[in-house]
Amino acid sequence: MNIGVFDSGLGGLTILKALLKELPQYNYIYLGDNARVPYGNRSPEIIYQFTKEAIDFLFKKNCQLIIIACNASTSTSLRKIQQEYLPKFHPNRKVLGVIKPVTEELGDSKFQRIGVIGTKAMVNSEAFIREIKKILPKAKIFQQACPLLVPYIEDSGRNRKVLQLILEEYLKGLRKKNIDSLLLACTHYEIVKKEIENIVGPKVKVITEGYIVAKKLKDYLKKHMEIEEKLKKKKKVSYFFTDPNQDNKKLMELFLNG
Ligand code: DGL
Repeated sequence: MNIGVFDSGLGGLTILKALLKELPQYNYIYLGDNARVPYGNRSPEIIYQFTKEAIDFLFKKNCQLIIIACNASTSTSLRKIQQEYLPKFHPNRKVLGVIKPVTEELGDSKFQRIGVIGTKAMVNSEAFIREIKKILPKAKIFQQACPLLVPYIEDSGRNRKVLQLILEEYLKGLRKKNIDSLLLACTHYEIVKKEIENIVGPKVKVITEGYIVAKKLKDYLKKHMEIEEKLKKKKKVSYFFTDPNQDNKKLMELFLNG
């Protein structure tokens, strides 16, 4: 059986890239809902509906385990999927997200003033605030929604000036908060990490999710041999998009190898 990786668009490829590096032996099926990206400006109810459809698609493609490589979906939908949907319809399969592994990793850090940027849906859910507070009760968390970033990135936006303006605008509030770390809580943002680092400066540790999610999945599979044993190890990777006619080859290349 396969490992499924799902995102609203191309952002989840940053997670897949890390998985392929850390756990190259498995078979992966990637699904990007590029026909409906961005999710982040939509209601939690509709994001849940889209997420459920994606999960059903990946289960039909013989996925034993699915990683929701999307913070908007994880923060609005994962709990309901795990607690209500899976027990009823797919009791033997697993769906994991990006928030738990990332907060566990933050729990091992000494960060005290953590900035979190992501989509509106992620920010409104307050999922990271809740989860980080559980393990770092004294930490101060400052969130900022960046609703233009995902459409900009998906539209192959590499116009430096525009990107610089958008980022400066979104980050100016956080820069005044004297943050020691900045979590990129949207899987799309990894490809503009350098530009973000240049704005926040060397004193702020910029954290991306790919490597953390891959490392934690490795630990998870070691602990759950009953799942690991079911996974095919043929190093096959397949990609599916809900709008297969969109030409996203160049951008995919940037996400996976850039
Ligand atoms: N990559 C998704 C995330 O991590 C983007 C969500 C969106 O489509 O707005 O949240």
